[in-house]
Amino acid sequence: MNTPDTDKRTWAEPYKIKMVELLRMTTHKERQAAIQEAGYNTFLTRSKDVYIDLLTDSGTGAMSDRQWAGLMLGDEAYAGSENFYHLEAVIGEYYGYKYMVPTHQGRGAENLMSQIMIKAGDHVPGNMYFTTTRLHQELAGGTFVDVIVDEAHDPESTFPFKGNVDINKLDRLVKEVGEERVPYISLEGNVNMAGGQPFSMANLNELHAYCRKHGIPIMLDATRTIENAWFIREREDGYAGKSVREILREICDLTDGCTMSAKKDALVNIGGFFACNDEALYRQAQNLVVVYEGLHTYGGLAGRDMEAMAQGIREAVAEEHQAARIGQVRYLGEKLANAGIPIVLPIGSHAVFIDAKRFLPHIDQDDYPAQALAAELYLEAGIRTMERGNVSAGRDPKTGKNRRPPLELVRLTIPRRVYTQAHMDVVVESVIDVYKRRDEIRGLKMEYEPEHLRFFQARFTPLS
Ligand SMILES: Cc1ncc(COP(=O)(O)O)c(C=O)c1O
Repeated sequence: MNTPDTDKRTWAEPYKIKMVELLRMTTHKERQAAIQEAGYNTFLTRSKDVYIDLLTDSGTGAMSDRQWAGLMLGDEAYAGSENFYHLEAVIGEYYGYKYMVPTHQGRGAENLMSQIMIKAGDHVPGNMYFTTTRLHQELAGGTFVDVIVDEAHDPESTFPFKGNVDINKLDRLVKEVGEERVPYISLEGNVNMAGGQPFSMANLNELHAYCRKHGIPIMLDATRTIENAWFIREREDGYAGKSVREILREICDLTDGCTMSAKKDALVNIGGFFACNDEALYRQAQNLVVVYEGLHTYGGLAGRDMEAMAQGIREAVAEEHQAARIGQVRYLGEKLANAGIPIVLPIGSHAVFIDAKRFLPHIDQDDYPAQALAAELYLEAGIRTMERGNVSAGRDPKTGKNRRPPLELVRLTIPRRVYTQAHMDVVVESVIDVYKRRDEIRGLKMEYEPEHLRFFQARFTPLS
């Protein structure tokens, strides 16, 4: 491979800024009113009240000049849009799947896949849950079973491939319920809830051999798999000389299909797809997509969105893009770790995760320490982050109790190509300031709890 200069220099961005979006700086008093109004839930704050928005990397990236130009090529025909065929060709070229159905975003694809593949009483193993993915599995009558390696649940473990599947855990499940009750394994690249942690190619090969033997398809959550490919290139023996593009293809070739939220890796503000190699499965997805999303040649997207996605996929596999992307996240993470802030290690690809259990050891998990810390970071400097702990994990459907997951985290998620190094420095200074006064921070009481995905809309009040 023709190794780019990124391997010898720092992670500077492979672009320059052509247009800026002005931000509003707020006072502490204004932020106090805003967070109170939002019920201490950062999802309910208004973006006009936010200075640095680290809520999510989903749909928040900056598109390139070529992507914006692509919007003008939008073919907004109801059927057979040219942009669909372009996107289909690009997905075939980079991901390698034979068939593709566009969806409005990732959860649209998850809905299709869950409804088609899961029968009531099935068990769906996965390398840790993702909120929407698990809910769709449950709504289809399935039970999610976590088969990720133990290291993933330990924020202090520096194991380089915390996204790996524990084949023994998978085998135990298969023996217990029978392989016919396991419709597929859900394999996520750069596992979000574990801190943006990759699986290794060695583990995927082992999983592939196991699944072939038992007739279990591997369905990839491809949302951040290009970033996973970068880590394989960086960390796994034998991959330093391969390109991200080649590694992505190798991953996909070992799987049977995928769901994709294109709002992350693929650098667009909206979009997703379901893809697979099996024609019968594709026909079902193609049939169902017209019920929930739109005709199978647009799946809830405008033609221009599909064009921007096709271009975004090309840009996402560029080494220099990933070097800057992951370099910026690492810059933030290393500065926080050096200041003694407890974060999840190793630093992942899309976010730095603060370990709220160690940051606020005096707050019980049922008083939602990560939720309280996210509210404090907003109050401190207008930085919007997200809880990824007890609130996100929800209640166990059998016991009705909070799940109290081992990881109680606040996610500082970095949008792609949006913020500067100086913004990252402000984030570091603000987190340190909150850390200095951590003993004064109190937990929260949940006042309003929606039935599904409660973290989006729950409301809280501070405990006295
Ligand atoms: C790993 C993973 N899977 C699926 C999704 C769902 O995608 P979307 O938000 O586009 O519906 C997300 C979104 O954050 C995600 O991070």
